[in-house]
Amino acid sequence: MSDKKFYITTPIYYPSDKLHIGHTYSTVQADAISRYKRFQGYDTFFLTGTDEHGQKIEDKATEAGVTPKEYVDNIVAGIKDLWKLMNISNDKFIRTTDEYHEAAVQKIFNKMYEKGDIYLGSYEGLYCKPCESFWTDTQAADGMCPDCGRPVIKASEQAYFFKLSKYADKLLEYYEAHPTFFAPKMREAEMVNNFIKPGLQDLCISRSTFKWGIQVPVNPEHVIYVWLDALTNYITALGYGSDDETLYNKFWPADVHLIGKDITRFHTIYWPAFLMSLDLPLPEKVYCHGWVLLEGGKMSKSKGNVVDPVKLAERYGVDALRYYLLREVAYGSDGVFSNENLINRINSDLANDLGNLVSRTVAMVEKYFGGTIPAEREAAELDETLKALAAETKTKAEESLDNLYFSDSLTNIWKFVSRTNKYIDETAPWALAKDENQKARLAEVMYNLCESIRIISVFVAPFMPDTSVKIREQLGLAPVECWDECGVFGKEATYNVKKGEIIFPRIDLEKELEELAASQEPAEPENPLKEEILGVAKIGIDDFAKVDLRAAKITECVPVKKAKKLLQLTLDDGTGVPRTVASGIALYYKPEELIGKTVVLVSNLKPAKLCGVESCGMILAATAGENDVKVIFLDGVPAGSKIS
Ligand code: MSP
Repeated sequence: MSDKKFYITTPIYYPSDKLHIGHTYSTVQADAISRYKRFQGYDTFFLTGTDEHGQKIEDKATEAGVTPKEYVDNIVAGIKDLWKLMNISNDKFIRTTDEYHEAAVQKIFNKMYEKGDIYLGSYEGLYCKPCESFWTDTQAADGMCPDCGRPVIKASEQAYFFKLSKYADKLLEYYEAHPTFFAPKMREAEMVNNFIKPGLQDLCISRSTFKWGIQVPVNPEHVIYVWLDALTNYITALGYGSDDETLYNKFWPADVHLIGKDITRFHTIYWPAFLMSLDLPLPEKVYCHGWVLLEGGKMSKSKGNVVDPVKLAERYGVDALRYYLLREVAYGSDGVFSNENLINRINSDLANDLGNLVSRTVAMVEKYFGGTIPAEREAAELDETLKALAAETKTKAEESLDNLYFSDSLTNIWKFVSRTNKYIDETAPWALAKDENQKARLAEVMYNLCESIRIISVFVAPFMPDTSVKIREQLGLAPVECWDECGVFGKEATYNVKKGEIIFPRIDLEKELEELAASQEPAEPENPLKEEILGVAKIGIDDFAKVDLRAAKITECVPVKKAKKLLQLTLDDGTGVPRTVASGIALYYKPEELIGKTVVLVSNLKPAKLCGVESCGMILAATAGENDVKVIFLDGVPAGSKIS
């Protein structure tokens, strides 16, 4: 066992939505670093898992007609399969529904409570249901959640609070004393200026409006806020709060929490404050990576553009997908996925540069030396250019990997791959082979090539583990065990090579794109209302006839003061008397967009007062999703027409 330890975590994923290549990007980065550290002799602990509590899961389970646990069990199995497919070498998979985690979270809550950092209060604020976050009026000034951009609702509940405000100065001090805590550094300014400087408010850490969570130990009416539950996974997974804290003592604090930039606040403000309250050391680094986007924006199930890593891996291979993600997305920035980019990368970097290098070299060793490079070579001199570049590449790859610059590190490694290819062109082994007097030189050239490829097999091992093994099989070598192997040029005395299958077959770009276009599944419209539709009680035609629907033209439209969601409409309903209706569509339409439009009016609805407006009727709109509301417009229908 090594005395050098390395502890890295990924976020624990919500098992509510299908995981896509964005999540895969996150986990593959953590895997590459873990493998690199293991090769370097670090005793490494790599943690991933699932975040299974909360209202969102409870709602989805209810919709599906199963218990929340049944609901998550099914999905978690799929997530584990995905990580297996992607060759993820995690040491542990934590589920927040694991009993040991639940027990430890309760202990953690009690410890903070006894310390006086948790108190009972009541909360009124703007709540974002999908994010399960409360926001202040300033934070959600436009009525939208600052994290996900969806509408927030006013909510109030009695709740337990964590004294986050108490830790503001301590957090600032910590950031100052640990300049490498934030990666990239620019995230620090964001957190300080947007959240800490404007004043940290105490954090609501319990909910009583749903049941699917870990019970607050001092009050069973409440469940613990999912983010307190989720963040503590990083220590409970190591046995913190259990009878055996060996792993915790060995691995905590984490060396890197690897997260997406959208959850920076939770990891760099809340989590450190929780740890301070528990008197525990803080993580060394929080690395906030960028997002994998699609041309035209974010991936979303409702847009039908979620990119399925399983399908991509099946089509192009696991290592090609891993390589693409790690190479294409620059440090801390967003990257744009497209099939064309992916195929181009596979063809140029993998099939052309790397694949050809290996197959050409192995074929030449077989052709000129029957597969075995003689151990006694007359001119034992190694090629200085390759040797020097190999050493330089090692240093650069290490610098980049230690700083989590995956793309840079691959760029440098590929410079060495290209240089080795160039070496073939420069030395022209086919010409040397024609001259009996050059046999020794030819052996030397082939040896140097095999050595370069061996070194490349070490460089690529953290990124593309299977490819490294395949390359080494062709060189007659066992899998990489130690990173420093790439620092020695001239390590193997001889090589016994054996041609294998082509590592990365070339893809016909045009044909592939055509096939993809033809096989494109129609976007699966997300219909959260499906269960609702099926479950609605039937009514008779007489009931329906009681509703009087009319075409009505909007003649005026203004916002309603202090009601962010309401618009006040004046309608021409064909009677000649203007009619006022208040409608909750302000988040979806600007007043000027509506004037002149004809809509469907429920004309015989009893009047009601909405935020000071006497509303006489309502207009119809279709709700396709939480944030997808469309008023039904009629074209060419005169005001007052009856709709039936
Ligand atoms: N459950 C919380 C994390 C709790 S950690 C204590 C969560 N889960 S998530 O499933 O919604 O997201 C997990 C991670 O995936 C986040 O880091 C998020 O940034 C990342 N990604 C989600 N979509 C992504 C892309 N399109 N691209 C890159 N990463 C993205 O948040």
